[in-house]
Amino acid sequence: MPNLSHFDQEVIFLIWNKRLPNRAELSTLEQSLRASCGLPAELIDLMKQFPREANPIDVLRTAVSVLEFYDPNARDISRETSIKTAIRLTAQFPTIVAAADRIRHGLEPVAPAGSLNIAANFLYMLRGEKPAEREARIFNICLILHADHELNASTFTARVVAGTLADMYAAVTAAIGALSGPLHGGANTNVMKTLLEVGALDNVESFIKQALANKRKIMGFGHAVYKTEDPRATHLRQFSKEMGEAAGDSKWYQMSRKVEEVMMREKGLYPNVDFFSASTYYMMGIPLDLYTPIFAISRISGWTGHILEQYDDNKLIRPRAEYVGPRDLVYVPIEQR
Ligand SMILES: CC(C)(COP(=O)(O)OP(=O)(O)OC[C@H]1O[C@@H](n2cnc3c(N)ncnc32)[C@H](O)[C@@H]1OP(=O)(O)O)[C@@H](O)C(=O)NCCC(=O)NCCS
Repeated sequence: MPNLSHFDQEVIFLIWNKRLPNRAELSTLEQSLRASCGLPAELIDLMKQFPREANPIDVLRTAVSVLEFYDPNARDISRETSIKTAIRLTAQFPTIVAAADRIRHGLEPVAPAGSLNIAANFLYMLRGEKPAEREARIFNICLILHADHELNASTFTARVVAGTLADMYAAVTAAIGALSGPLHGGANTNVMKTLLEVGALDNVESFIKQALANKRKIMGFGHAVYKTEDPRATHLRQFSKEMGEAAGDSKWYQMSRKVEEVMMREKGLYPNVDFFSASTYYMMGIPLDLYTPIFAISRISGWTGHILEQYDDNKLIRPRAEYVGPRDLVYVPIEQR
């Protein structure tokens, strides 16, 4: 069994370098990530000015944009500097999200613990106490499962921005904006909102049927590419079950299973990555609006990997549009319209 405490860093290295690291490379990456997870004091001060009700994904987007001001090499998109920027962003994302949550609750941010990996450190900074080993391991695998996924909407956005040779901060800021939408990374929060709205196992069947009859989309189902089960959902289903059992509350898992059954019967749709991650995080006691920022904490490795690739062999991304509007219109002066 591989040592999972290194797994996230190994995956990050793999995404950025197209191969797994040797021990020395892994150790260098771990040290660099550890050394980079702090935030400029100015950013923390600024975050304390944000409205308490600001959505954490918007706080993250704004924070990344602000980080650019404190990086004198922000505009340098050479591979050497870009890798350093990617390391810093990957290390800083968990710190930002955990700090955002603590600040809005009137608490001081918790400094990162040098001994923990990214997943465990995030839970530690969020709660101020170290997570149980199994929980940290499950959370670590959740991050691995979300790390990269080809040209999804946010990664495509990052590529488009990087393709103009704008810098990494600009590309990542735009990617977070794309991720935040409910049809993409915002789906996980909405899955849990739906489960809470349904409220009880006995309500699932009628709720889903009614929602579908009203042409309402059920979050966490369907996928632009997968027309079979999203392989990530297979693992997350198991984690939802396990975290429910560990918390002595399998209600959300059982409700999720029932939603799955009804959706398959009624629409032939499979759950995607967001469906079971919702109840898994809920059972970890994580606030609903942190689910999408958690997606970003993982996906930053994929985004930056794609941005590095884009810079390595760049071409402006400029698709053509097919005009389908009215033709042969005659100009009418404004006074006559
Ligand atoms: C992910 C998603 C945007 C993919 O969209 P897509 O590939 O363009 O699929 P379409 O929107 O064309 O859907 C095809 C059909 O399934 C239906 N459908 C797709 N996802 C659905 C859902 N989650 N709930 C209900 N119906 C859904 C569509 O309404 C459409 O039905 P129709 O042919 O009767 O109009 C879509 O499945 C969705 O909105 N899912 C919910 C949001 C979500 O979980 N996003 C995270 C993705 S990882």
